[in-house]
Amino acid sequence: MNVLDIDDLPVSTLEDVLADAPEIEAARENGRPRDDLDGLSLAMLFEKPSTRTRVSFEVGLTQLGGHAVFLGEDDIQLGNGEPVKDTARALSGYVDGVMARVNAHEDLEELAEYSSVPVVNGLSDDAHPVQTLADLLTIREHCGFDDTTVAWVGDGNNVGASFLVGAAMVGLDVVAATPDGYGFADGVTDRASNYDGTVTLVDDPTDAVADADVVYTDVWVSMGEEAEREAKLEAFYDGGFQLDADLLAHAPDDAAVMHCLPAHRGEEITDDVLESERSLVWRQAENRLHGQNALLVELLG
Ligand code: CP
Ligand code: NVA
Repeated sequence: MNVLDIDDLPVSTLEDVLADAPEIEAARENGRPRDDLDGLSLAMLFEKPSTRTRVSFEVGLTQLGGHAVFLGEDDIQLGNGEPVKDTARALSGYVDGVMARVNAHEDLEELAEYSSVPVVNGLSDDAHPVQTLADLLTIREHCGFDDTTVAWVGDGNNVGASFLVGAAMVGLDVVAATPDGYGFADGVTDRASNYDGTVTLVDDPTDAVADADVVYTDVWVSMGEEAEREAKLEAFYDGGFQLDADLLAHAPDDAAVMHCLPAHRGEEITDDVLESERSLVWRQAENRLHGQNALLVELLG
């Protein structure tokens, strides 16, 4: 099975992964680390920088008895013009799975088409499903999924798109506000509508957060969008999309805050909000490891 986006997983498999993650974490904490991936190898292909994705996958493989191979684009022949489809077939002969962070989602689809081993998306321009696993684990730990409303405030980007769909798969209600011209790609809300949760799109960020148990944001200028930086900053600042104390004042007093990181303090979020007791971001970042470990056991174990 490939996981190019979160809804490549059947709901029952997503539920299994979310259930297994804390068990794998607890086993390690109790001195009984798992070895489900004993002898298995994962290629990690990166066309963009990463802290969380790179380290959590590499450490995760080690924790589960396997081995991860880091492949920066410029370290391998891909960066020298070798086609994605050739890279896919060569890697498939060596490793048991491929995790890839690519610019264009189409490259990931080609990688998956030509790989004979599972391919996992570690972020593309369209989607970030392994982030969604951590997001859902964090929300479930914080307040559970029943009668839970999450506000998405900001860009209709890769992280938000996967989150909207994944949230719907576990029955969450999402209220999303994005600036004019920076909404979600066609099809994202339709895909979410296949599941039990709800997605409501609003224009005003203060409306999005009004009933939120959790307020979630991401950077305004994603990697690869640097040329759009000036226009995006103007649209997001002018629209009141910064997650600051003023915006949080429109949310319930106990609303928590999430951010996939890296954060740009002073742009999409202020330092005081990110560092506040309402912020779940460090546990959210750690949950990348636990969610991915459970996913890898499901796919490769
Ligand atoms: N959230 C996330 O994917 O972070 P990195 O870019 O550091 O991997
Ligand atoms: N939306 C951001 C997420 C980084 C983890 C980006 O694509 O750069």
